[in-house]
Amino acid sequence: MVKKTNHFIFPYIGNKITEEPHIIPYLTSIIDKNNITTIVEPFTGSASLSYMIWKHYPNKKFKYILNDTDKNLINFYNTLKNTSEEDLKKMESDYFDIVKNIQTNEQYNHFIKQEGLMPYFVKYNFYNINPGRFPALKLNNHKINIYRLNILESGIYQFIKNNDIEFNLGDGIPLFDKYKDDKQTLIISDPPYINLCNSSYNYKDGSDMYQYIYNNDTLTYKSHLIFIVQKMWIINLLFEDWNTLNTYHKMYNITKRKVEHVILYNHFLK
Ligand SMILES: C[S@@+](CC[C@H](N)C(=O)[O-])C[C@H]1O[C@@H](n2cnc3c(N)ncnc32)[C@H](O)[C@@H]1O
Repeated sequence: MVKKTNHFIFPYIGNKITEEPHIIPYLTSIIDKNNITTIVEPFTGSASLSYMIWKHYPNKKFKYILNDTDKNLINFYNTLKNTSEEDLKKMESDYFDIVKNIQTNEQYNHFIKQEGLMPYFVKYNFYNINPGRFPALKLNNHKINIYRLNILESGIYQFIKNNDIEFNLGDGIPLFDKYKDDKQTLIISDPPYINLCNSSYNYKDGSDMYQYIYNNDTLTYKSHLIFIVQKMWIINLLFEDWNTLNTYHKMYNITKRKVEHVILYNHFLK
């Protein structure tokens, strides 16, 4: 079972929160030495990278631009931003009532296919805690823990309430062009892993991020670009002239798969 120790409302796949000690010293060094005022995350996911920056500089007023292609995620963020505490509390209790009442595989599958935040919560909260096992466990009447959604107590809610954040729904790649001349902008990219298999190639999965790096002279951009990616041969080739700030090992909780991550930077650390 995965412990819900992160800043988000469920364990977001690929989040970087446990990698903070390997990452934050480099981000703060760039921020401090270059008087960074704007933080952009083109592939924001659970926004753990911006969250760690806020924790490090609780009183500094950055402008955050957080982007993702997942419409449920961006809808969730905008809801956190624009909904009263009272209504968010109601969402927490509605969630619990819904989950208690889902009794069969069919009900579960039917519910998670619907549009809206509740199906999104149900799908990802259960999927991540008992990957793939929720319907079977329920069906066989095994005792499973039904986790409450702790929206108001979550780190992500505090982050959103206390900062100037713009949420964008869409492809993250145009943001690299948009900010290329801004030397006070730090763009932190944690794209999906590079997809080496052509048969499942899909531009929406982030693969063309790597093509963008190949086709553009990002080393001349004034903005500060950071990539946190899996270290492998094609990454070494693509980012050959970039500055390697750190490499470290990471083990995935569920699969126990070990990978090596690398932090790449398009300038030199001053
Ligand atoms: C590795 S995850 C990011 C994890 C994040 N750093 C965190 O700590 O939670 C990659 C994210 O990129 C998003 N994504 C995939 N393709 C995208 C694209 N073309 N543009 C923007 N976001 C994309 C996915 O929805 C996912 O949230």
